Amino acid sequence: MKPLSIGLVGAGAIGRMHADVIAGSGFAEIVAVADPTEAGRLYCLERGLPWCSSHHALLEAGGVEALIIATPNQSHLEIGLAAIAHGVPALIEKPVAVTVAEGEELSAASAKAGVPILVGHHRRHNPIIAKARELVGQGALGRLTNATVLYTFFKHDAYFDLAWRREPGGGPILINLIHEIDLIRFVCGEVAAVQAVTSGRVRGLPVEDTAAVLLELENGALVTVSLSDTAVTPWSWDLVSGELPNYPWQEKPVNSHFISGTEGSLALPSLDHWRYDGEKSWFAPITQEAIPIERQSPYIRQLRHLFDVVRHGVRPLIDAADATRTLKVTLAVQDAARQRQRLEMQFG
Ligand SMILES: NC(=O)c1ccc[n+]([C@@H]2O[C@H](COP(=O)([O-])OP(=O)(O)OC[C@H]3O[C@@H](n4cnc5c(N)ncnc54)[C@H](O)[C@@H]3O)[C@@H](O)[C@H]2O)c1
Repeated sequence: MKPLSIGLVGAGAIGRMHADVIAGSGFAEIVAVADPTEAGRLYCLERGLPWCSSHHALLEAGGVEALIIATPNQSHLEIGLAAIAHGVPALIEKPVAVTVAEGEELSAASAKAGVPILVGHHRRHNPIIAKARELVGQGALGRLTNATVLYTFFKHDAYFDLAWRREPGGGPILINLIHEIDLIRFVCGEVAAVQAVTSGRVRGLPVEDTAAVLLELENGALVTVSLSDTAVTPWSWDLVSGELPNYPWQEKPVNSHFISGTEGSLALPSLDHWRYDGEKSWFAPITQEAIPIERQSPYIRQLRHLFDVVRHGVRPLIDAADATRTLKVTLAVQDAARQRQRLEMQFG
């Protein structure tokens, strides 16, 4: 089998991680890297990868079956549209774009040209998340009542040396919460309305450091997300799922997600399933069963999925339209906090 020929645009933090995943995959290879910086050129030199000064040069050279776009959010629209114009399917890192209008433009262009776009909401490719979605979909929890998500962690002080991270828009709502919004939409259902309260009192910066978010789902379930980037806790998916090597994995199992229904509940990432085997009553003993799962890197599974999208015409697990809905809900959380109002979601 000939490896999938990939052009990588952006050789920063996540771009290099993609390059490592590709190098170890055995079914894909990087044929060129576009990054205009000297650091990008040197990286290519060290790794023996052909370097291009821009995505235009990379696409013009031809020979790529897929693009991975791992550049700052503001450039996703332009580079995504260029890939589509060249008929090259792309994996665009999350968020799909900066605004809903931009996401919709990408989605429309992809549909019109028949060129698929996969968006890098990598958690959807985690076998734990896939299993949770399957169990909820099969009704293993009965009718969903509520879910509690803890996304609390501590960002080191130097993180805030970059000015944009101290200003509104650079905080944990747009940078981090978007992962939870996508996970909830994927596992529990579509969001119907949002409310939120934010605080920046601990760090005292213009950007929020903490938020309490309430999501009403179309199926009636209520979801709360407790978010903070200034709290010393292990209770965040990044720290407890073992997805990325740069976050040390907890030795003791710790859960961050609790999904409840009328017939049972599920804790993640342990996949502990709680239910009554006999009488359903808070006075009866409740059964705990850990559902076995084979752990696998969501990034390698995402790459395999990209292969299947390109070579076998499989529909992207999350396309530009779907990712735009995730972006829309995330932006609505920020607006709801600013306006101190409950905002209903309208999806076109
Ligand atoms: N899915 C995930 O787990 C995950 C994790 C981190 C970041 N991200 C997303 O990945 C994207 C990149 O984030 P990062 O942390 O790697 O940023 P980064 O700043 O570390 O890297 C961005 C790279 O893109 C290059 N670049 C900028 N403009 C370019 C252009 N027009 N053409 C080619 N290269 C260009 C920069 O020189 C830099 O090397 C963002 O959208 C971010 O939200 C996703």
